[in-house]
Amino acid sequence: MSNPANIDRILSDGVAELEKADDAEKIGEVKIHYLGRKGLLSAALKGLKDLSIDERKAFGAAANNAKSELAAKIEGMLSALKPSTKADLDYTLPGQTNRLGRLHPLTRGIKEITEIFRRMGFAVATGPEIETDYYNFGALNFPEDHPARDMQDTFYLSETNGLPPGLLLRTHTSNVQIREFERRKPPLKIIAPGKVYRHEAVSSRAYCVFHQVEGFQVGENISMADMKGALVGFCHEYFSPEIELRFRPSFFPFTEPSAEVDVSCIICDGKGCSVCKYDGWLEILGCGMIDPNVMTAVGYDPEKYTGYAFGMGVERIVMLKRRITDIRLFYENDIRFTRKY
Ligand code: DAH
Repeated sequence: MSNPANIDRILSDGVAELEKADDAEKIGEVKIHYLGRKGLLSAALKGLKDLSIDERKAFGAAANNAKSELAAKIEGMLSALKPSTKADLDYTLPGQTNRLGRLHPLTRGIKEITEIFRRMGFAVATGPEIETDYYNFGALNFPEDHPARDMQDTFYLSETNGLPPGLLLRTHTSNVQIREFERRKPPLKIIAPGKVYRHEAVSSRAYCVFHQVEGFQVGENISMADMKGALVGFCHEYFSPEIELRFRPSFFPFTEPSAEVDVSCIICDGKGCSVCKYDGWLEILGCGMIDPNVMTAVGYDPEKYTGYAFGMGVERIVMLKRRITDIRLFYENDIRFTRKY
């Protein structure tokens, strides 16, 4: 074993192994295996004492040579792996930036809407998302057999978790009307932003959770003209002063008369495009004069007080203003979306 040919073999094996080693840990293993105290070279040198003087010289020289060659190669590889020093930095490369966080487009939309109504004198209220049938439907004059009360449309909470029976996820923010009417006396002028839930098939236009802003004013001699003034003022401020509004007769159990409001399509200026389905108009909210039955349910005298109410879908109007074509984008948490809008 102890002849220079063996050493040459150890050296060539060592070089071959180093060539395969691609990180500091593997290079270190090769180093220990070949150059360590119990490594291959040390083991080979143990046979030295059995050799003649001449043989020892040749073998020793070969061993020293192999050792320094492997050590140099290992050293070179390790220093190539070290991070570059400052002198190697390219100062002309672009720097690393820390991106700033943004408000979610819905948070921003709700803030903008709320701010506009606050300037018109509306106070801001919120209400519970887990609600009873009474506040979500009953007090709002929904008949017992109204389809919205169906399991198909409303999420009911299961009683199996020890919850009291009859709880549901509110399907609209109109519950806040009843809750605020019970706490206050007229005159009042309130908006209520918040989340609502509906058992709907998810699509580019509908989602199982979304946001609404409810608004209502009650007092003496409050008329439909007050309602129109507030809504036209809002739309001019939120969309553009050029936008036109159209009040269309409609029906809601809690208002009489009821209307839906369309705005002239902001994408095509009312000329007709795919967003407004070539109609030139886009529906953005429901509204009406508060039904006397609702007034009576909360103990307001409908002979003395009148009021209006409205409710708008936040996703809907943010989508129109920012030209977002799919409601699901709001809920996917893709940072590229938040950054863009
Ligand atoms: N709650 C209705 C809905 O979710 C929207 C609505 C319509 C609210 C008319 C109102 C209103 O306050 O007066 O579809």
